[in-house]
Amino acid sequence: MKYEVVITSSSKINNKGNEDINNTPNNTYSTYNNHKEHNKYNRAPIGVYFKNNGDNLLVRAHLYENSHTYNILKKEDYFVINITSPYIIAQSVYDDNGNYKLIKYNNHILPYLSEAYRIYIIKIINRKIIKSKNEYGYSDIMIIEGVSLLEKDIKEPPVIPYNRADGLIVEMAVLYSRLSIVDSSQKDEIKREMEHYFKIIKRVGDKNHIELGKKFLSGL
Ligand SMILES: Cc1cc2nc3c(=O)[nH]c(=O)nc-3n(C[C@H](O)[C@H](O)[C@H](O)COP(=O)(O)O)c2cc1C
Repeated sequence: MKYEVVITSSSKINNKGNEDINNTPNNTYSTYNNHKEHNKYNRAPIGVYFKNNGDNLLVRAHLYENSHTYNILKKEDYFVINITSPYIIAQSVYDDNGNYKLIKYNNHILPYLSEAYRIYIIKIINRKIIKSKNEYGYSDIMIIEGVSLLEKDIKEPPVIPYNRADGLIVEMAVLYSRLSIVDSSQKDEIKREMEHYFKIIKRVGDKNHIELGKKFLSGL
C-alpha cells in the first residue's frame, strides 16, 4: 500500500554553494512555487510504499524530476520519512519552512519535523531513472528504494474524530503541486476542482485548513 508521508532531507552539495539545484533545465518550480526556494533543509509530501522483509522495513518512492527532493536524493543517500498529520502533509507542499529538528545517525545529521508522530531514517540502496508518460506528458521519474535504519517515535498522535477538511486539504495540495506541469486548459480544470474542495473546507475545517486553502488558491 502507498502512504502519504513527508520526506525531509538536506543537501550537502548545495549548502556548500557548489551547485545550485534550482538551476536545472525545465525547472518550473520558480514559475509557481517560489515559496519553495531552496532552504538548507527540504520537506515534501511524497507517496511511499512500505514493505516488511524479514526484520527489515523496505520503502520505495517515485520522484518526479525537477523537485528539490529529486535533485537532493539523486546525490544524497540518507533521508527521513516523517509520519505526520494530513495538515502538515498539505503544508509541506507549499513551502520548506518546517519546524525542523536534527537527528544524528552515525556521521549523518538529518532534519525531521518536530510535529512528526514517528520518523524513519532511510538509506537509499537502489536508484533507477525511467521515462514516464502520464496525463500531463513525458517526464523522468527516479524510483528510489531504501531500507529503514532507525525508527523513532516523536509525538503521541492525537485521538480525534475524522474531519473531512483533512482529506480535502491534502487533495488541494496534490492539485497545487500539479500546477507547474499542466497547460492552461488543465489549469482551469484544476482551479475548479480546488475551488470545489475549498468550499467544503470553509464549512467543516478550522482556521489552519482555511488559511492554507486560501494560500493554495492564491497561487492560481
Ligand atoms: C499528498 C501528496 C503526495 C505527493 N506524492 C509525490 C510523489 O510520490 N512523488 C513526487 O515526485 N511528488 C509528489 N508530490 C508532489 C511534491 O510534494 C511536490 O512536487 C513538492 O513541491 C516537491 O517539493 P520540493 O521541491 O521541496 O522537493 C506529492 C504531493 C502531495 C501533496
